[in-house]
Amino acid sequence: MRLSKRVENLPPYLFVEIIRKIAEKKARGEEIISFAIGDPDIPTPPHIIERLCEAARDPANHRYPDVDGLPELRWAMAGWYQKRFGVSLDPDKEILPLIGSKEGIANMATCFMDPGDIALVPDPGYPTYAMSTLLASGRPYYLPLKAERGFLPDLEAIPEHILQKSKILWLNYPNNPTGAVADLEFFNKAVKFAERHDLAICHDGPYTEVAYDGYQPVSFMQAEGAKEVGVEFHSLSKGFNMTGWRVGMLVGNAMMVNALMRVKSNLDSGIPQAIQYAAIEALNGPQDCIREHNIIYQKRRDLIVGVLNKMGLKANLPKASLYVWAKVPEGYNSADFTADLLDQVGVAVTPGAGYGKHGEGHVRLSLTVPDAALVKGLSRLAGWRNTRRQILKKK
Ligand SMILES: Cc1ncc(COP(=O)(O)O)c(C=O)c1O
Repeated sequence: MRLSKRVENLPPYLFVEIIRKIAEKKARGEEIISFAIGDPDIPTPPHIIERLCEAARDPANHRYPDVDGLPELRWAMAGWYQKRFGVSLDPDKEILPLIGSKEGIANMATCFMDPGDIALVPDPGYPTYAMSTLLASGRPYYLPLKAERGFLPDLEAIPEHILQKSKILWLNYPNNPTGAVADLEFFNKAVKFAERHDLAICHDGPYTEVAYDGYQPVSFMQAEGAKEVGVEFHSLSKGFNMTGWRVGMLVGNAMMVNALMRVKSNLDSGIPQAIQYAAIEALNGPQDCIREHNIIYQKRRDLIVGVLNKMGLKANLPKASLYVWAKVPEGYNSADFTADLLDQVGVAVTPGAGYGKHGEGHVRLSLTVPDAALVKGLSRLAGWRNTRRQILKKK
């Protein structure tokens, strides 16, 4: 048996080591408190589940769905973009429902990459942008996201010979893993940059609804000319606590929407229809749940950042997203700090290096830890001792 070069050459999954360690400890009966995964712990709101159950009982929803979803779902998505961002979208040409946004993000590479083509991807960044590029025989070129630039990429620093081979620019705000946000000014500049260099922008915005202190993130689609050069991936996963149901959407440039539709129609058969009705309910129904969830996350954010700062890790309060991005203490890299936390106090966090070279020196903590576990996890973290400080001093 011979696997494809594409699969054989995929870089190893960087969280493998930590996942193995956690599994070993759990097998020994140790209780691990995990801040590692951005998966909302609060259940999907009851009105959405009610609609799902009702739709599941209707035999009309037991059959193959259409790949491009129910027209009512595309209308609900258009209505939600209009209400939330003041952006008008044509439900037939500028919207495509997805089986979770990850599915669409991964398949987008097939629409653009020929062997040797480049996709510009943020580093640190959500791993699917680079991995899907590699699987489609393209090449990722990493754009460093640095704290001193507010974790926004320096587009003007990309060398000309790279730009000549580049076809897609991936952006993601509110950002995973850094929690950084972008304003319309940045998106307007990105559109101009894409026009100049004939790039397609793929903005990934699943966290626009998860925000704190009254801050309201913008959509890339609000930028002037956004529809001419790009699209936005969105998702019901994080805003409506629906990660398990798998509903996302692609909106924006009609040619890109159509290209993804053509790829998908050869690969999948759409979102189960009962779930589409649940999504319609989420988008058209009351939106109070979003504010209620954010109040809970904001309290957790404040508690986590308070404890991290006392431990000597530098962490800022993110304005949005589900993540706290913290600088590890001197003397550690992200992997050995993560291993040390796990060994000393049984707490799991995600090592920043797993998100790219420029994530090194950081760890990511997710706010999706139920309150009781959070309190326990924080008291464990407060008991962590920096054993390398002594070693550093002696040197
Ligand atoms: C930046 C980013 N994009 C996309 C996704 C995928 O979300 P989903 O497939 O649940 O819509 C995630 C999930 O964690 C994410 O962090």
